[in-house]
Amino acid sequence: MSLDGLEKKKTIDLRKKHIGPSCKIFFSHDPIKIVKAKGQYMYDEKGQRYLDCINNVAHVGHCHPDVVKAGAEQMGLLNTNTRFLHDNLVLYAQRLQATLPDKLSVCYFVNSGSEANDLALRLAWQYTGNKDIITLENAYHGHVSSLIDISPYKFHQLSDAEQSHFVHVAPSPDVYRGKYSADRPDAATAYADEVKDIIEKVHKKGHKIAAFIAESLQSCGGQVIPPVGYFQQVAEHVRKAGGVFIADEVQVGFGRVGSQFWAFQLQGDDFVPDIVTMGKPIGNGHPMSCVVTTREVAEAFMSSGMEYFNTFGGNPVSCAIGLAVLDVIEKEDLQGNALRVGQYLTNVLEKQKEKHPLIGDIRGRGLFVGVELVKDRVKLTPATAEAQEVIYKLKEQHVLLSADGPHRNVLKFKPPLCFTTEDADLVVEKIDPILKGICLLAADAL
Ligand SMILES: Cc1ncc(COP(=O)(O)O)c(C=O)c1O
Repeated sequence: MSLDGLEKKKTIDLRKKHIGPSCKIFFSHDPIKIVKAKGQYMYDEKGQRYLDCINNVAHVGHCHPDVVKAGAEQMGLLNTNTRFLHDNLVLYAQRLQATLPDKLSVCYFVNSGSEANDLALRLAWQYTGNKDIITLENAYHGHVSSLIDISPYKFHQLSDAEQSHFVHVAPSPDVYRGKYSADRPDAATAYADEVKDIIEKVHKKGHKIAAFIAESLQSCGGQVIPPVGYFQQVAEHVRKAGGVFIADEVQVGFGRVGSQFWAFQLQGDDFVPDIVTMGKPIGNGHPMSCVVTTREVAEAFMSSGMEYFNTFGGNPVSCAIGLAVLDVIEKEDLQGNALRVGQYLTNVLEKQKEKHPLIGDIRGRGLFVGVELVKDRVKLTPATAEAQEVIYKLKEQHVLLSADGPHRNVLKFKPPLCFTTEDADLVVEKIDPILKGICLLAADAL
């Protein structure tokens, strides 16, 4: 079969026939068929190039040759499971640990972000002996049953949604649209006190807290950057109640935020989670993920008496790929690039904000940037349809961007870390006339 493969219509027909209808596709009225990719670019069946501003999985660039080579070479040599000794497993665990605070020293390798978070819950339940979980508004932590329960982003989509009695939802620490805004000097404390109140209510019901789980920066929840000090205070309340702090780094880890390797480190050196979960970028597209925790939590998990075995987690091929990803991040200074290009992108977007009243807020760290569109900068009325229009018009011009958040009005930038300042200029040059056009149409309609 050629690289082009099937005629596009045939691919669509077969997909409709054989793939579950709830598996959604981007741009459903005219989906894109991607047949190859390199760096920050993807190519369709006609060879047309798309600039990829959203793919945080292809972290070091699509099909990076060093990563492909590492995987292919190990695949030609051996692939097996963690019941055999293998250097790749221990060397990778050691390398990953070196990026984390000392206390986080024990790894469990799994295959997806969902598996990582599900295991994190099991660790928390076993270690604390408690059951209840505190999660954040609009959070998404994965697609398996245990995680749908703690993912308001998902369970709110069900018309007959019934929140599990052991799950408690705290306000998202969103200082733009949330309950407490950035102009409050104590926003971090105000949001953390909400968690404290939940803990008190849980105790009154006779329940006990096992864990607080949050993404270090909320992604699907609308590119939310929690105020500094929030995690420290939450951790204090949760630990006092006998629970643990789980930081979900599935979207935002591995240098994306630029100034630090892990996004939870943005809160300061005095904050260390008890469990960290990783996924997406860890294997640059190869399905692998990891849970890292403390020796104490791991010993407690061991004391249950049950073996932990995962057929594919931590296999020599995955670990070779994981090592190659870390090598490329270092060799190409991709964390530094995320910091520099992210800052540049934020600056050029800020200039757009001066021109276009539709832009309500620009927030980000490194190459994790959100642009919130609003119809009114005082009332913060979400500009949902407008955000969709930006996305669709950009797609017509071969730039891939997405919109998310509870109102689907936040334009999300989370490109491969090889994104350049020229790429930033290109996308912003295209956004500018689109926003101008939307404004003119709105004025005409008055
Ligand atoms: C924050 C977060 N955690 C966990 C997951 C689940 O990861 P996966 O789709 O690899 O199971 C996702 C997926 O989008 C995510 O965004």
